[in-house]
Amino acid sequence: MRSNLLVVSNRGPFTIEENNGSLKCRPAVSGLVSAVLPAVKKIGGTWLAWAGRFAEKPGEVQAVIKDEFQFVEILLSRKEVEGYYEGYANGVLWPLCHLMPEKVKLSEENYQIYREVNYKFAQRAAALLRSGTLLWIHDYHLALMPHFIRQKNSWQRIAFFWHIPFPPVELFTIQPWAEELLRGLLGADIIGFHIDDYRENFLRAVERVLRLPVNYEWGTVYYNGREILVKAVPIGIETKNFQKEVPEIPEIKEEIAGQKVFLGVERLDYTKGLKEKIQGFARFLESNPEYWGKVKLLQVAVPTRENIDQYQAYAREVLAEAAKVNERFGNNQWQPIKILKRNYSQEELIYLYRIADALVITSLEDGLNLVAKEYIASKKEPGVLILSKRTGVARQLGAALLVNPYSPEEIALKLKEALEMPDNLKKKSFSFLKEQVILKNNEWWLENFLGKELRFMDTGFGKYYR
Ligand code: G6P
Repeated sequence: MRSNLLVVSNRGPFTIEENNGSLKCRPAVSGLVSAVLPAVKKIGGTWLAWAGRFAEKPGEVQAVIKDEFQFVEILLSRKEVEGYYEGYANGVLWPLCHLMPEKVKLSEENYQIYREVNYKFAQRAAALLRSGTLLWIHDYHLALMPHFIRQKNSWQRIAFFWHIPFPPVELFTIQPWAEELLRGLLGADIIGFHIDDYRENFLRAVERVLRLPVNYEWGTVYYNGREILVKAVPIGIETKNFQKEVPEIPEIKEEIAGQKVFLGVERLDYTKGLKEKIQGFARFLESNPEYWGKVKLLQVAVPTRENIDQYQAYAREVLAEAAKVNERFGNNQWQPIKILKRNYSQEELIYLYRIADALVITSLEDGLNLVAKEYIASKKEPGVLILSKRTGVARQLGAALLVNPYSPEEIALKLKEALEMPDNLKKKSFSFLKEQVILKNNEWWLENFLGKELRFMDTGFGKYYR
């Protein structure tokens, strides 16, 4: 039986491309998708999302794909994508939530398009709702959608998960639309964040901006006669997916021969601290010449949001920074940094995680960071995790080598510490990390955030897994 769950997000599980009249699906790359997909596969139901196609030609119809769950595509026009996705979601909310107000580009027009697109998503979702359906909306692209659904149907159960940081109220209110956005989210019955800090920031914003009574201890807000529950439950991964045997990648094996490997796996996003990582690595090489020729920084840099100027500029800066270091320290036989500028499949990533002596995460601000968990889940032999203190996951993985990404000196010291860590210590901290990742897996997240709602979905009682 297909369950009565409707998931809605901007980016869905697939990207669809049209080729001579036939449609081609490719798995989409996003933190949201890697977290939500295992849950939806388990529960079943319908997933409504944009698949990267533009509704430009008249009469173009959206695709419906039936598999372990049903995927329903929503088409957007180029103008909608520019205003809603590139303009407001990624030009205002993304930098604001990642505490980078200098990158924010306010535009009333873009916000109005964001509003319209949220309304469009709400209309499409409403047409798919049946009695007893649990509606689960995801992320900052769709903050107004819970309100629009609530307006149409006051009885609808709505869950919302916010996947990125939620900033302090002083930053959130730089944008003139803060109040409407908060009211939009409060259309939901249950709202989830990764960690307590984000949950508290949200509750404080509700209290200050909307002047509503808030209970911090219980995480409840009373609004329009309803009680809304606000929870902090960090996403977990499906660990068994990372335990499989995978083939080698010969060109990588050759690239790292005889060297210790520091690995980075990031989208080319300015919040990820790639330049800072490279600068920290340069500082390490500068003060430890005995490691020249013996270590390599392998950096997967996945192109992302390439239509946005800031992202194009950032990608260029990262490549230039890496080239500078290679020129300064490298020679014909050895280049200290290898940038791998493409998307890697899950299998390929597992191989990269396994060959890495340490994973290095230097995000300047990061909602959670699932790559840290994937690394720990993939490794058969203990490895070292160097982890920015400014990631949500640092609250869970305190046994990692925590680092301030703004300090190249600190990064350099941690890199050295990782290389020289005694085996018994490495083993001990790795087993702490592994225990956390396995215990707080995807199923744990689903149960703790939504278990109660899922059990009442459909029949009112009963088990929610198919
Ligand atoms: C990251 C964030 C997610 C967000 C996604 C959007 O993965 O962690 O919260 O939904 O980016 O990525 P996109 O490629 O769709 O802009």
